[in-house]
Order: sequence, then C-alpha cells, then structure tokens
Amino acid sequence: MASHLVYRLSNRGPNHTLKQVSEPKPTISKHEVLVKIEGISLNYRDIVIANGTYPFPIKENVVPCSDGAGEVIEVGSSVEGLEIGDHVIANFDAMNLYGQQKTWTHGHGGPIDGVLREYAAFPASVLVKIPKEAKMSFTQMASLVCTGVTAWNALYGNVPLKPGQTVLFQGTGGVSITGLILAKAAGATTIITSSSDSKLALVKEKYGVDHTINYKTHPNWAAEALKIAPTGVDFILENGGSGTIGQSLECITLGGVIAVIGLLVQAKQEDMPDVAGLVLGHGAIVRGITVGSKQLLEELVRFVVARGLEMPVDKTFGFEPEEVEKAYEYLRSGSHVGKVCISLE
Ligand SMILES: NC(=O)c1ccc[n+]([C@@H]2O[C@H](COP(=O)([O-])OP(=O)(O)OC[C@H]3O[C@@H](n4cnc5c(N)ncnc54)[C@H](OP(=O)(O)O)[C@@H]3O)[C@@H](O)[C@H]2O)c1
Repeated sequence: MASHLVYRLSNRGPNHTLKQVSEPKPTISKHEVLVKIEGISLNYRDIVIANGTYPFPIKENVVPCSDGAGEVIEVGSSVEGLEIGDHVIANFDAMNLYGQQKTWTHGHGGPIDGVLREYAAFPASVLVKIPKEAKMSFTQMASLVCTGVTAWNALYGNVPLKPGQTVLFQGTGGVSITGLILAKAAGATTIITSSSDSKLALVKEKYGVDHTINYKTHPNWAAEALKIAPTGVDFILENGGSGTIGQSLECITLGGVIAVIGLLVQAKQEDMPDVAGLVLGHGAIVRGITVGSKQLLEELVRFVVARGLEMPVDKTFGFEPEEVEKAYEYLRSGSHVGKVCISLE
C-alpha cells in the first residue's frame, strides 16, 4: 500500500509533540477528491492548539493546520467541476458552506484532521478552485483560508465596507495585513497599530498603509486614531479582545463596526470596559467572527484574483521536522509581519 508523510500532534500542552509519521496514503469515495498538498499557512490558532489553550474541541492525535493548498490528483466518480491538475484550497470549516458556522466540530486541524501532510482527501463540496492564471504561489493560496476569510468576513460578512471609509487593524499579524490589503484595494483609508516602529515602517513601505500608530509608545492609541479620523473609525478588526475593545469603542464612529476576531489581550477584572454602555453610546455594531463560510471564501478568491492581490507571506519553511518546528517557533516569537508558511514544493 502506498504511504505518505503526516504530522500528528500529541500531549497538547507545554510539552506537546509534533511528530512526522508515515501512514497509508488516503483513498477517496465517489464524492471526494485527493489533493497533493503543496503549501500550508500557519495561524495563531495552530500555536494555541499545540499549547493546549485553544478553548474549543480538539481531536486526539490530530493532523494540525487548517490552511492547505494543492493540486488535485484524483477525482471521485460523482464529482463534477474539478479535474486532475486543478489548484484548490479547502474551506476552514468542512461543514460551513454558507451562512454562519453552526458548530465547533468541523474545523480542519482541530476537531477534524488538517493539512500538515502530503496528501489529503476532501469532500468535493468543501474545495474552491484557484484559477491557474492567478499566478499565486501555493503558500499564498493557503493564506486565503483562515485569515483571508476572517478579514473578508469582518469587512463584508454583514455591513459591507464602502470606498472612502476608514479601517483600523490591530497589530501586524496575518489577519491585520490581509485585511489591510483587501481594504486598500477597496478604496478604504487604512490605519494599523503595532508594538514595533520597524514593523510599522515595513508595513508602510511594503503594503502602503495610510497611517500607523505604535500602541506601546501611545498606550492611548484610540486618541491617536481620533486625530487621524476625527469623527471616528468606520471599521475595526479587533484582535486584542477585552484588553483593547474599550479603546476600540472610544474611537469607533457612531454606527461603526467592530469585528471581534482575536482574544490576544486579556483585561484585568478591575479594568474591564463597560462594553454594553460604550456600544450603546456609539450605536456600534460589535460582531464576533468565526472565520467564515465557503461562500465567503469564493467571494474572497474572486476579488483577490480579479485584482491580482498577493497574500502577505512573510517567511516560508520546509516540510522536514526541523523546518516545521522552526516555522512554529517563528510564529510563536511574534517577529513576523503577515503570514508564516510551509512549502512542500
Ligand atoms: N475569530 C476568528 O475567526 C479568527 C480567525 C483568525 C485569527 N483569529 C485570532 O485573531 C488573532 C490574530 O490572528 P493572527 O493570525 O493575525 O495572529 P498573528 O499573525 O500571530 O498576529 C498577532 C499580532 O497581534 C498583535 N498584537 C498583540 N498584542 C496586541 C495588542 N495589545 N494590540 C494590538 N495588536 C496586538 C501583534 O502585532 P505587533 O507585533 O505588530 O504588535 C502580533 O503580531 C489571534 O488571536 C487569532 O487566534 C481569530
């Protein structure tokens, strides 16, 4: 029987092990497609899953990582619309084809096996084709899956962003830089915050952000945002959570949208903002984001391909065990701007 290389995560927690093993190559049913994985994009979620602090169900001995891109090498007999040689990505949640995700039990690389492996069988319904003319690398395609859809959902999943509006992104990680690329292409004015002046300089030079704020040297960063947008910011991609949402609500415009995406910064109990009061006072829309549906992924792919946008791959590592370890370590260090990836090409 043919075999392939797979990573499995065990002992989730500070002493977890991420081990490469050889397993039988997956076979497919008539509704499935076999994909040779060529590019993988890591997410902050992969770190917290390994550390054992992810607050949702995880399968024992899971194949980690949600974001994979590859080439179709076998197609089930009942599958239509996909052919051998097509380039594809699989949606983050295998069951969330449209609308709101209904459970926490079908996310790749968590409750079900993910893509840190050479071959994966997917139901055809979960795959999105990337046109060959898009000239994207496999790691860039993979980067559309989690942070791409999350940022798209934040900007278009409910009240859509309009050209000329102002969008603020917290930090320079995958969600923020992807959102920045999408919002700029849609004609928005963009503001980004970071703990690092050198990262802000890089984001200005490489991604053309309009305004930057260092949230370490300006702990009251909301006041700085209001100097840039005196009537308030229209959209905020909230990565901090309880530790930052108070300031987000101070600088959001009346009727603006705060997309609650990350919980990176926990406020002390005595510093908890009065979210209900601030939301009411600003007539704000505060919306929790759970990545997004395949429908949103299709919309994102259409936009990115039509506009020739490039997903922000910062650094790419190999598939060998020491390289995968380095990729996780680089993401954990927080030194990246944009996405950290693994290539199997
Ligand atoms: N809800 C969802 O569907 C969803 C989807 C994807 C991601 N997420 C979550 O969203 C968050 C960001 O994900 P990611 O993939 O972009 O992570 P990432 O690439 O690891 O980036 C995290 C960045 O957050 C910034 N940060 C840390 N503390 C901050 C603070 N006090 N204020 C502003 N920024 C701060 C840092 O930027 P600087 O180094 O520039 O300071 C850091 O680089 C994570 O919590 C992740 O779990 C949620």
